[in-house]
Amino acid sequence: MAFKDKILLWYESYGRDLPWRKTCDPYHIWISEIILQQTRIEQGLSYYLKFIDAFPTVQHLAEASEQDVLKLWQGLGYYSRCRNLHAAAKSIVSDRNGVFPDTYEDILALKGVGKYTAAAIASFAFRMNYPVIDGNVYRVISRIYGVYSPIGTQSAFKQFEQILFRLIDTERPDLFNQAIMDFGATYCKPVSPDCANCIFASECVAYRNEKVDMLP
Ligand code: ADE
Repeated sequence: MAFKDKILLWYESYGRDLPWRKTCDPYHIWISEIILQQTRIEQGLSYYLKFIDAFPTVQHLAEASEQDVLKLWQGLGYYSRCRNLHAAAKSIVSDRNGVFPDTYEDILALKGVGKYTAAAIASFAFRMNYPVIDGNVYRVISRIYGVYSPIGTQSAFKQFEQILFRLIDTERPDLFNQAIMDFGATYCKPVSPDCANCIFASECVAYRNEKVDMLP
């Protein structure tokens, strides 16, 4: 079975039920991804719900005062995330008539949005074929395919991106991306993953070579 079919099958049974996965609204997905950049899901969840409730559209966020926006962010830390979010919302309203950008390049140009977040929004909201590459995805790919390149470098990013462009499900890049992130976060964990019962046990290079603890 192809990688994408295996991971999607796994996700169908074990994927986490999270509120931002039930929407295609790029604004809501953007909010969730910015909150989750440096925050664990358990903590981010209530902030996401509060934020969407207070500012249901990009217009609401753009029109709010910085003080009100920061007040809702209180406790999450990394306040530049919040200031960038507010500034980007204002620019979407003033420069784009309030319409959220719908190309990867335009999403990437938003203040505070890097490659990971742009790929997440493009795939989750618009089903565009951009693989997400976060720490979880790095770990899954480096172990299964035995990629030793040191993560965090430009060349490693390119290498992982190339592998993922070959693996991604072009029909459902949104589900594929969610699935591989979840698989990394909940099954292919950094420490003591349950390799013997893993769906990729027979092909995982790291497992077969007893290098799981070393990769990535
Ligand atoms: N971490 C960052 N983005 C996420 C998402 N969309 N689902 C689960 N965890 C995440």
